[in-house]
Amino acid sequence: RKYSPISAVFEKVNVGEVAEVKGWVKNLRVQKELVFADVSDGSCAKKLQIVIPKNLKPDSLTYGSSVHITGKLTKSPRGQLELVADNVNVLGSCVVLDGYPFNPRTTHPPDYTRQYLHLRSRTNYISAILRVRSSLTKHISDYFAANNYLNIHTPILTSNDCEGAGEVFKVQPENEETIKAMMQEGRDKDTVYFGTKTFLTVSGQLHLEAICRSMGNVYTLGPTFRAENSRSRLHLSEFYMLEAEVAFCHTLEQLQAVIEGLLQYVFIQTWNSNEADLILIDKGNKPPSWLEQKFVTLTYDEAKIVLQKKGMTVIDDINKEQELMLVEYCKAPVFVTRWPKDMKSFYMKECVDDNTKVDALDLLTPITGEVVGGSLREDNYERLKSKLPSERLNWYLDLRKFGNIPTGGFGLGLERLLQVLCGVSNIKDTLPFPRWPHNCDM
Ligand code: 4AD
Ligand code: MG
Repeated sequence: RKYSPISAVFEKVNVGEVAEVKGWVKNLRVQKELVFADVSDGSCAKKLQIVIPKNLKPDSLTYGSSVHITGKLTKSPRGQLELVADNVNVLGSCVVLDGYPFNPRTTHPPDYTRQYLHLRSRTNYISAILRVRSSLTKHISDYFAANNYLNIHTPILTSNDCEGAGEVFKVQPENEETIKAMMQEGRDKDTVYFGTKTFLTVSGQLHLEAICRSMGNVYTLGPTFRAENSRSRLHLSEFYMLEAEVAFCHTLEQLQAVIEGLLQYVFIQTWNSNEADLILIDKGNKPPSWLEQKFVTLTYDEAKIVLQKKGMTVIDDINKEQELMLVEYCKAPVFVTRWPKDMKSFYMKECVDDNTKVDALDLLTPITGEVVGGSLREDNYERLKSKLPSERLNWYLDLRKFGNIPTGGFGLGLERLLQVLCGVSNIKDTLPFPRWPHNCDM
């Protein structure tokens, strides 16, 4: 007998075969002669129904307990695959009255399960989202591998604030002895360890740009940190950002084609691989109609006119309500391009025909509004030098001096993409252990 994940049991249904499963009881129905247990092991959305003759039921077999069961696969009268148990072993009991926060009769709302981060992956909703998340990252890697991008690991510790928004977390040693010993070398407390102020990265872009200027197309997917005082349904203190830098990229249209190709690919692939999960997350879920049409492009000025026609005033930045309004108006994801220079980061390339604007883009989608931010990179040495926020970034300027090439790139919030894909309104439900202000207890 060979133990296999429940997903594999469903994939290779061989009625009459013996099988061995390990997992958790999600539902239990006790009848006169028989006990029915729905068992899940996290491998798929489906649960395997186990039929247990009453004399084989251990007392500790309850909702929430972990089990190791052997038996024979059969089809129920209704054609459903089930396992008729010949041995039931409870590995870990679960006494609901001891404070287990879930029960099988309730659909627990996300703001309730969020209070139990260590247990909430036992709910159908969160476990389905985590399976989609796992597949999504695989499909993202597949897309980049198929398009000849190198996967690069950029550092988490850095001395730059790439976005210049002052949203960095500062990093320092905790150990007093280390600090004392190092301060004797004449450093101040802020810079004692690395000799320079050090932060958790807000973006790996500048490092990616360095590698792109010697190895061509590159991407990275890793944790990113923002010290924003925001508890919104769209912000986390730690999130995963997918960043790509496209070599020899001359126009925003080239960059847009990469982003559009990526999103359409990963949406279709994830729907193919995880349809049951996506429907479990939201019964009304279906592949979005915009997978079949082109994304819309509006310049910042055009977007402003659309919003003004809708009776909204744009004071500099387009706010969340306005972003969602633009998506609704275009009935498709919208690229907003050519932004006013003073609203965007130092590294963005000035438009050749308008020095008040930069070749930047935001991609707006339903549910989240902005899901991607990107731009062409300023490649004029003098212009970049005049905008460089700190001498500590002289290495970045150097990249324009030696064998420079035009590049463009973007950052995509993985959790926001999951919100769009799954139809999840709160970003905190798209990753196992969300961090946001006042919430880092475990
Ligand atoms: O627009 P942002 O700040 O762009 C950059 O960091 C660029 N350096 C990326 C690049 O060109 N390589 O962030 C990119 C995306 C946003 O569009 C959003 O989806 C996500 O990262 N994001 C957040 N997601 C969750 N919580 C936060 N606090 C986020 N801040 C940004
Ligand atoms: Mg942005």
